[in-house]
Amino acid sequence: MELRKKLTAAWIRREQMHEDPATTAYRIFHGHGDGEPRFDADRFGKAVVLWLRKNSGVDVDSVAEFYSEVLQPDTIIVKDGARDSGHVLVGSAPSGPLTIKEEGLSFSVDLLAAQNAGFFLDARPARNWLRRHSAGRRVANLFAYTGSLGVVAVAGGARSIEHVDLQTGQLRRAQVNHQLNHQRVSTRDFQDVEVGRWLRQAIKKGRSFDGIILDPPPRSPRGRARFRRERLYELAGKALSPEGWIFVFFNRRGLDPHEENEQVIDTLGPGYERFWEGRSGDDFMEPDLKNRLHFAAYRLR
Ligand SMILES: C[S@@+](CC[C@H](N)C(=O)[O-])C[C@H]1O[C@@H](n2cnc3c(N)ncnc32)[C@H](O)[C@@H]1O
Repeated sequence: MELRKKLTAAWIRREQMHEDPATTAYRIFHGHGDGEPRFDADRFGKAVVLWLRKNSGVDVDSVAEFYSEVLQPDTIIVKDGARDSGHVLVGSAPSGPLTIKEEGLSFSVDLLAAQNAGFFLDARPARNWLRRHSAGRRVANLFAYTGSLGVVAVAGGARSIEHVDLQTGQLRRAQVNHQLNHQRVSTRDFQDVEVGRWLRQAIKKGRSFDGIILDPPPRSPRGRARFRRERLYELAGKALSPEGWIFVFFNRRGLDPHEENEQVIDTLGPGYERFWEGRSGDDFMEPDLKNRLHFAAYRLR
């Protein structure tokens, strides 16, 4: 199928999403699922970001022409490879961060930042779950990044939220995301500490949480940020209240969710069960389910 037909089919497949004013950011073309694995395209309100695989050779002008027709965006940005901060192909560069909406909540995104704009679109079903299961809970958002998972927890009635991440700058952005949604937080709710260390300290102080979110990067960094997944599960289990849940992200392409699940259960202990699991939304449709972002919630039986 020629490129334009693929773009059109992908656009029509997401028709319902285009019409929902409460959610203005989502994937509009997912290479692997929409038949052209050389690139992906995301919508962030009135902006489009094209993510090209390295040396993809995609005809970006035709892609930009298509999105200019159907969406009339203010800006189309192209990123060549995952680490590229991108350049403006159509329109003008945003003068600063933009605000997008998801399920009526607001989030700040920086489209010209390297790698990610500060908001993982594929985690939307996880955010929906967390919003519905946080009422009255003390929630720890570990590997918090720009804090979107904590924002939805507070929107869902969390009693308290604590964000932990080594990057102070990203935690500042998390603070902005809470402010955008008129949520009251204090500077103590943002801890720029290594997650394993933070968990050990919390356990030592006898602190416990009713919801622990674990979203580590796909591979452990070297140096002071180094972690072992099994050790994190073990520590999280010790910091969890009896009625609490642990919400784990499995974010490596090609990993078998069943093996991952066994690792969590083996580490947490036989008293635990997985009581919910989910995957990235259909805007991230993949022929191979193993390649979709996957997440699950665990609790004591
Ligand atoms: C996959 S992102 C988390 C995404 C986030 N949960 C969200 O939904 O936006 C991983 C984050 O983990 C942080 N990080 C990596 N290793 C860490 C460690 N050992 N301790 C604390 N933060 C760490 C990085 O700074 C990065 O912000």
